[in-house]
Parts: sequence; C-alpha cells; structure tokens
Amino acid sequence: AIDPNFDQNREVVDDHQGHDVWGPVEEPEQLGIHGTHVAVDFDICDADGVCVEDCPVDVFEWVETPGHPTSEKKADPANETQCIDCMLCVDVCPVDAIDVDST
Ligand code: SF4
Ligand code: F3S
Ligand code: ZN
Repeated sequence: AIDPNFDQNREVVDDHQGHDVWGPVEEPEQLGIHGTHVAVDFDICDADGVCVEDCPVDVFEWVETPGHPTSEKKADPANETQCIDCMLCVDVCPVDAIDVDST
C-alpha cells in the first residue's frame, strides 16, 4: 500500500502537469508517487481503473507508462485541486495505491 507519510519519507524530484512527483524515480521501472493532496503510487497502481471511472469530479487521467513492470498505464491525479475529499478512490482501489490527505 501507499505510504501515508510519503511527504515525510520521500522528496519531490519532479513536476508533472503541475503536480509534484515524489521519488525515487528510475524510469521506466520506478515511477514514484504522483500528486500531493491526491497521491497515487505509480509503482503500486496496476491500472484497475475504478478510480478513473468513479471519481465524481474526474480528478484522474490515464498516462501511458510503457516498460513499467506492474502496468503500462497509471491513474494520474491530473486535477487534484478539484478533489472534494469524498475518499471514494481510497476505498475502492484494490491495491491501495491512493492516499488523499483530507485533514
Ligand atoms: Fe475523486 Fe473523491 Fe478521490 Fe478526491 S477523494 S480524487 S473527489 S474519488
Ligand atoms: Fe490504479 Fe488503483 Fe486507480 S490500481 S487505476 S490507482 S483504482
Ligand atoms: Zn502525474
């Protein structure tokens, strides 16, 4: 599961579409965590897609990640500033790849 304390245990190494990327990143095998308020551990996400389908405000967009050992696309929190903290994505992701900081 995603580390809920990732913001203390990792460092921002990049920016992607206006959100932070928390390392370590070693492309294409290791992609880190995308987003801060809505954080997706790309190394855990296996492209189930229920978050993309069910988020009521369409926070997530698919990004292609060819060469990643777990899956070749990931749910990117492209619109994390739109999040309404409903926690649905956190509850439904089958591999617990998502953390939403609702505090
Ligand atoms: Fe979307 Fe709710 Fe998840 Fe925020 S907590 S990203 S609004 S499903
Ligand atoms: Fe990935 Fe979980 Fe969404 S596996 S696509 S973050 S439901
Ligand atoms: Zn991203």
